[in-house]
Amino acid sequence: MTDQHRGRTTRDGIRIHEAADFAGMHRAGALAAQILDDIAPHIIVGQTTAALDALIEGMVNDAGATSATIGYKGYRHASCISVNHVVCHGIPGGKIPKWKNDSHARADDSLKDGDILNIDVTVIVDGWFGDTSRMYVAGKPKAYAERLIQVTHDALMVGIEAVKPGNTFGDIGHAIQAYAEAHQTSVVRDFCGHGLGRVFHAPPNVLHFGRAGTGAVLEEGMFFTIEPMINLGRPETKVLADDWTAITRDKSLSAQFEHSIGVTATGAEIFTLSPGGLFHPTYN
Ligand code: MF3
Ligand code: CO
Ligand code: CO
Repeated sequence: MTDQHRGRTTRDGIRIHEAADFAGMHRAGALAAQILDDIAPHIIVGQTTAALDALIEGMVNDAGATSATIGYKGYRHASCISVNHVVCHGIPGGKIPKWKNDSHARADDSLKDGDILNIDVTVIVDGWFGDTSRMYVAGKPKAYAERLIQVTHDALMVGIEAVKPGNTFGDIGHAIQAYAEAHQTSVVRDFCGHGLGRVFHAPPNVLHFGRAGTGAVLEEGMFFTIEPMINLGRPETKVLADDWTAITRDKSLSAQFEHSIGVTATGAEIFTLSPGGLFHPTYN
């Protein structure tokens, strides 16, 4: 049996992987998560996002792995670093956009006291993709920022709890949306999670909102990300002129966490759990 003939694809175009494939995803996910652990001590006031990305690229190379984002659709960095009201796809080294609570425009890409940031890393190990992101804080966070980070992390985990064969993708989105909205936050609609495996982005689109019981039925062997972006204000986003950086239209604060997971016989295996147990908001 050749690689191409292993497993199968559902009528929705979703790949069903074999038991042995979980090990490949586990290795890729563990490296991505280790990198997010190892970058944590470097998140300090004054640090630049360019320097953080350079460190991450070095970690990917030192592990003998490949960055999935360098060269992806013209993207040139080993991470996305999204500060404050940047929803996703913040470009390391780019000037940090001015947000609601900034008194002046930013001069550069250096972190200020109280900034919150998402770092998103995707690596390829032996052909398998590991995609994960987490929130960090430079200096001392505001109470509302800490609350948003906590709600976003918990929304991701509530979504993962809805993962088991027989449930639907709509059950995942519904669980996340219900949790986020019960905590006075909003779910970004313009970006979603995705299937992955030996490819970066594959069917299905994993929505972080929706109705229970709708969408494709979950089956053992599906691999995908769940990566909710949650805002303190309204859910609408816009992409800046660099064609990557997405911000909240109302310039309210945004947070995101992402795990790569596989559907098992009874639930989910999280491939990107923090090896160091730094499983959620990391503060220095
Ligand atoms: N890692 C992102 C995701 O979660 C994708 C980043 S693509 C990039 O799907 F080109 F912006 F890096
Ligand atoms: Co992803
Ligand atoms: Co990602």
